[in-house]
Amino acid sequence: MALHPLHGLVEQLAPQPIIFIGGKGGVGKTTTAAALASYYANQGKKTLIVSTDPAHSLGDVLNTKLNNAKTAISPYLDAIELNPDVIVDEHFAQVERTITSYANPDMMPKIREHLRLSKSAPGAQEAAMLESMCQHLVAAADAGYEHIIFDTAPTGHTLRLLVLPEMMGAWTDGLLAQQRRQAKLRSVATHLDSHNQKGNQTKNHQNDVANPFATKKSDRWEQAVSVLEKRKQLFRQAGLLLHDRTQTAIVLVMTADVLPLAETKRAIEQLEDSKLTPAAIVINQLISTTQSDEFWRRRAERQQQLMQDIEKNFSKYPLYPIYLQQTDVRGTDALSRLLSTVSQ
Ligand SMILES: Nc1ncnc2c1ncn2[C@@H]1O[C@H](COP(=O)(O)OP(=O)(O)OP(=O)(O)O)[C@@H](O)[C@H]1O
Ligand SMILES: [Mg+2]
Repeated sequence: MALHPLHGLVEQLAPQPIIFIGGKGGVGKTTTAAALASYYANQGKKTLIVSTDPAHSLGDVLNTKLNNAKTAISPYLDAIELNPDVIVDEHFAQVERTITSYANPDMMPKIREHLRLSKSAPGAQEAAMLESMCQHLVAAADAGYEHIIFDTAPTGHTLRLLVLPEMMGAWTDGLLAQQRRQAKLRSVATHLDSHNQKGNQTKNHQNDVANPFATKKSDRWEQAVSVLEKRKQLFRQAGLLLHDRTQTAIVLVMTADVLPLAETKRAIEQLEDSKLTPAAIVINQLISTTQSDEFWRRRAERQQQLMQDIEKNFSKYPLYPIYLQQTDVRGTDALSRLLSTVSQ
């Protein structure tokens, strides 16, 4: 199967509002994500690009300093760079607020210490980032964006993030089920209690004191449960969007090299296992074979050999070429032109 003309990529992805760009480190994810976002925005489509890369590459590519809040790059393009440290701090502050609302105040110093340590625990950043990404994902549709493009972190990390909602969903389900059982037991106990009190003045007086506390406590639990419910709902909604092929496209970027080929194969297997079939593969930094310089001609020939392996391995997927440019591609106009180039 021959390579598709690059312009086909923007046409293929036009109906899907959510686009994830994945791939090995340094292959051109940020460039591809920013090029797609710039292209759609230049077409007058309201577009949001979200980067989870702590190295600020997206801001560099768009020539603008970005942060966790939306920055308008052009009339139709907004960009966000999620800073993992800020996201984790906000996430744990929220967790602390939730716990404070139902925990025994005497326990709070210990709980705070535990939360402080949890911030640096493995997976904490991923979980906090995931929640933030899901929030943007779900909110973007309501905010009227026609496209939301995620410039994700390298492959393994990204894949863990994509399957996390289901795992977290199961975990919160377990907690909620336990919570409901306890609430039921509590209400039965309260019911029995009030039954026993009838006609007993002294006892009744004691329970007037005890019962309001029980009610208050169960209210607090309900608040905590409702936070978990909301989070679960968010993950479920995001999970549904991610798995809906009419809503979400996953594009893998690779270069015509041995290691990216092996990594892309693994990434596709894992994605397919999670029922997240990629929509397309971009082969970036291709060198045209019409080079006069021997070094570059040899590199181009080597890429062409690898292209045969790539086409064989990924025959199920549309493959789009992006050619190596003389310099880094920066700014929305240059990025947008990168995808409109008909041939090289
Ligand atoms: N087609 C291209 N032509 C010229 N330079 C390119 C091309 N694609 C990418 N680059 C350059 O290669 C470098 C890496 O690209 P980019 O930052 O897009 O990769 P990435 O996959 O996002 O990397 P990371 O995994 O570190 O986030 C950048 O300096 C970028 O400008
Ligand atoms: Mg990047």
